[in-house]
Amino acid sequence: MPCPTQLPSWRVLQSLAAIAHTQRVAQLFEADSQRYARFSHRWQSLLVDFSKQRITPEVMNALLSLAQEAGLSEWKSALRAGQPVNHTEHRAVLHMALRNQTGQPFEAQGTDVTAEVASELSRMERIVSAIRQGDWRGYTGKRITQVVSIGIGGSHLGPQMVCEALNHLAEGELAVHFVSNVDAAQLTQTLARLNPETTLFVVSSKTFTTRETLLNANTARRWLLASGAPESAIAQHFAAVSSATDKAKAFGIGADNIFAMWDWVGGRFSLWSAIGLPIALYLGFEQFEQLLDGAHSMDEHFLTAPDDENLPVLMALIGVWNATFLRIPTQALLPYDQGLKYLPAYLQQAEMESNGKSVQRDGSPVTYPTCPIVWGQLGIDGQHAFYQLLHQGTHGVAADMIGTLRAQHQEPEHHENLLANLIAQSQALMSGVGDAAVRASLRDKGLPEAEINHLAPHKLHEGNRSSTTILLDEMTPFNLGALIALYEHKIFVQGVIWNINSYDQWGVELGKVLAADVERQLMGEASPEGQDASTAGLVAEFRQAARANNGGGL
Ligand code: F6P
Repeated sequence: MPCPTQLPSWRVLQSLAAIAHTQRVAQLFEADSQRYARFSHRWQSLLVDFSKQRITPEVMNALLSLAQEAGLSEWKSALRAGQPVNHTEHRAVLHMALRNQTGQPFEAQGTDVTAEVASELSRMERIVSAIRQGDWRGYTGKRITQVVSIGIGGSHLGPQMVCEALNHLAEGELAVHFVSNVDAAQLTQTLARLNPETTLFVVSSKTFTTRETLLNANTARRWLLASGAPESAIAQHFAAVSSATDKAKAFGIGADNIFAMWDWVGGRFSLWSAIGLPIALYLGFEQFEQLLDGAHSMDEHFLTAPDDENLPVLMALIGVWNATFLRIPTQALLPYDQGLKYLPAYLQQAEMESNGKSVQRDGSPVTYPTCPIVWGQLGIDGQHAFYQLLHQGTHGVAADMIGTLRAQHQEPEHHENLLANLIAQSQALMSGVGDAAVRASLRDKGLPEAEINHLAPHKLHEGNRSSTTILLDEMTPFNLGALIALYEHKIFVQGVIWNINSYDQWGVELGKVLAADVERQLMGEASPEGQDASTAGLVAEFRQAARANNGGGL
């Protein structure tokens, strides 16, 4: 593909962006009584309202043309056909195959993967049912009641997010704990509450080389053995999910307890594979299957719906409009649903590790902004923390506000208040409050003119901040699966438009290599000589503190 800036619609969008800087969304609503109907879309149990974005029909037409010119439909076909769209690693990208329970073939570079996927799913189902029904027991014969998932990044964020979002469906005695941090505080505090006889560790690592995960897994194994368990107990208390089966075996996990992953599944898109084992253990296999079905249903929509009705395509294009043409540098994710508290962290990896790139597919530099900084937390908590900046700060922020129409509890007053806040905040971000309205309200309060002049500038809300509202009918596994897949496909489409590879992550490598060097220096096995002065100074500080802690023994 040529550089996207050479595509005819790119210029058109640049001109439209200049116009957009003079427009106010609130006025666009006044001028078009159909705006909400025009820019909001219902698909199954999802409602997505783009009408508070700074878009017009002309902008959307130009964005849709841009998608066509960028070859989106050819890219979709290449993705579906299992071609190596991850071209720097020569890999297909087939997370859609993981949730395809229809039996339709999915090929990774010519090899049908459906049988392997189905076989791993059956193995998962068997272990889930054995553990949940108490047939699989710990080495002393007690039921497994605690699962500790050890993993990081894509081998952690998805399962943790889904377990939290659907925890109202968890039945039975099984509890799930997540350990990702190499700071042993997390692992030791988790283990302090657990009984080794009833605990199963699931070590999730696609590569099985991730230092944080291996350190945690080793410490967990020592904890089990230190409690008096024999070596043979590892078989009842450890399972692994990895594409490096040999490494998992070398760690001591038996082949029967190792679940496969494939190189055509990116870590951040892997919760649909056996990486989702903690989800299935916690919620039951049927709920996990419904999660897969919801994602599959969104896959079908993505692959077949015309672009102008295609939710991931529209969402992606509006994201490109915001980041690249309106130059809005950040994207906030603001869930108004307690269960979605880990969604921002999950999507932060999915989006930023995928599209935080500065070279095009041919290696030439990009000359336009790509992925915005993705951040966020529960909207209600954010309102009492950082929303001040959203309303009156100097940074442009686009926001996704996500809520559920039906609550999972019987406290309607709470739910009404929650949703009122979601809707009101998107309204406030768009409308703001102008000078005349501020002054009128201060006058109504009887303030003297001097005080009004003094206060008015501080009370202005500029408004015209872009937001999308996403409402799920209800937080079910199916709806959550569809929501996650919506974002996954959005990421793909944006990668196509920006002409970048969304499926590699070379930017994480340098830090890993340097950390290994520094670790040797901290341990005194290598000299910090030749490092920059800051690194050498910090290493020296650590060594001095370590010597002091060890009474000078290091
Ligand atoms: O360092 C980043 C990363 O490679 C992510 O892409 C990945 O999800 C995570 O680390 C964990 O990797 P693994 O599953 O191989 O342990």
